[in-house]
Amino acid sequence: MLTDSHAHLNAPEFDEDREETIARAREAGVTRIVNIGFNRETIPTSLKLAEAYDFIWTAVGWHPQDAKDMLPEDLDWIEELCKHEKVVAIGEIGLDYYWDTSPKEVQDRVFREQIRLARKVGKPIIIHDRDAHHDVVETLKQEKAAEVGGIMHCFSGSWETAKLCLDMNFYISFGGPVTFKNARQPKEVLAQVPLDRLLLETDSPYLTPHPFRGKRNESAHVRLVAEAAAEIKGLPVEEIARITTENAIRLLGIN
Ligand code: NI
Repeated sequence: MLTDSHAHLNAPEFDEDREETIARAREAGVTRIVNIGFNRETIPTSLKLAEAYDFIWTAVGWHPQDAKDMLPEDLDWIEELCKHEKVVAIGEIGLDYYWDTSPKEVQDRVFREQIRLARKVGKPIIIHDRDAHHDVVETLKQEKAAEVGGIMHCFSGSWETAKLCLDMNFYISFGGPVTFKNARQPKEVLAQVPLDRLLLETDSPYLTPHPFRGKRNESAHVRLVAEAAAEIKGLPVEEIARITTENAIRLLGIN
């Protein structure tokens, strides 16, 4: 009973064997996948995937890396799509100061516009935060994101940052990095996140867990993330799988 709360199975990396990949996830015990469409190209393909499989849902939003391409009509498009029964969140949205492919002020505007939209339509948000912890938290606070809450996707911040996000009704999601031997911080944060706010993800095809690091990631590997989380929490893996799936159902209504 595993849930992959963040995947990109519509990515071209899966064009050759998408169906088989999704079948492997089912065989590995994955009962729910949230796929993410994050720009003009990936929103329609993510939606198509969610329509084709009853255990796949989608989030739609505009990625900070593509912020400079978002037009006013794109925001209207996202608002319209929020009425779709398989659209469960707005995301991934946020700030990316690592790749820095869109100017910071444009990222800031696009992020704020989408938080406001989420509050308007009453959907949770999925947050992409790369090297921007302080500004992400400040923006969430200023834009009253606590009203809708959401997911801190592949969380890489400190426990202090995690606490601020928990206070704003966010769930903290962990992926492949918690399986890496040298990943001290995410493991320490995972150890402290309350069980009822914990989520697991793959971010497939990226962030592949140990021992497949360097290869393409896929949703079946969320089991490896669950095993790492179970070890850190000192619980059976079935228990971690059940709890994180219940959390995803509570937040996103994916039942
Ligand atoms: Ni992603």
